[in-house]
Amino acid sequence: MSMEVQSVDFSTYTKSDKYKWVHEQLPPLLAPESDSVANLGNAMALLKDTFCWWWVGIYRVSQNELVLGPFQGPVACTRIALGRGVCGSAWQQQKTIVVPNVHDFPGHIACSAFSQSEIVVPIFKGEEVVAVLDVDSEHLAHFDEIDARELGIFCASLVPYL
Ligand code: SME
Repeated sequence: MSMEVQSVDFSTYTKSDKYKWVHEQLPPLLAPESDSVANLGNAMALLKDTFCWWWVGIYRVSQNELVLGPFQGPVACTRIALGRGVCGSAWQQQKTIVVPNVHDFPGHIACSAFSQSEIVVPIFKGEEVVAVLDVDSEHLAHFDEIDARELGIFCASLVPYL
C-alpha cells in the first residue's frame, strides 16, 4: 500500500505551524503499516521534508548499545555506547539534551563536520529508554524548548511503531 503526504509550501509556516503539520500527518502515515523500518523511515522523511534539517534519525537500543536505525541525511556512525556523545548521554540521563554548539559538548561524536547544533530526545517504553531521536543542524543554536517539547510529543507517537 502506498501512502502519500500532501506537498506543502512551508515557506510561510512558523516552527509551531510545522510541528502542528507533522503531528497531524504522522498517525495516518504510520497506522496502515506494521513494519517498523518502513514506518520509522517515513517518520524521519516527514521530519526531514518539513524542517530541512541537516540530519535526522533514530538510534535504537540493542544489546546495551545504541544502533543506527532509519535516518535522513549523510552517513552516520552505527553504534554508540551508553554515556557516549550526545545520544549516549541522553539515553543515560533519560532526558532531552539540547546542544547549541556541538563543539562545546565534551565527548560529542562528530558524524558530519557540518553539524553545528543538535537535539537528542529519548524515547520511552514505560520507564525504559528504547531509542533516541537525534537531529543535527548546520546552524548554531538551532534548537530550543519548543523543539524539545514538540519532538517529545512526536517521539511519544512513535512508540507503537518501534
Ligand atoms: N552527534 C551524535 C552522534 C550521532 S550523529 O550526530 C548522527 C552524538 O554525539 O551522540
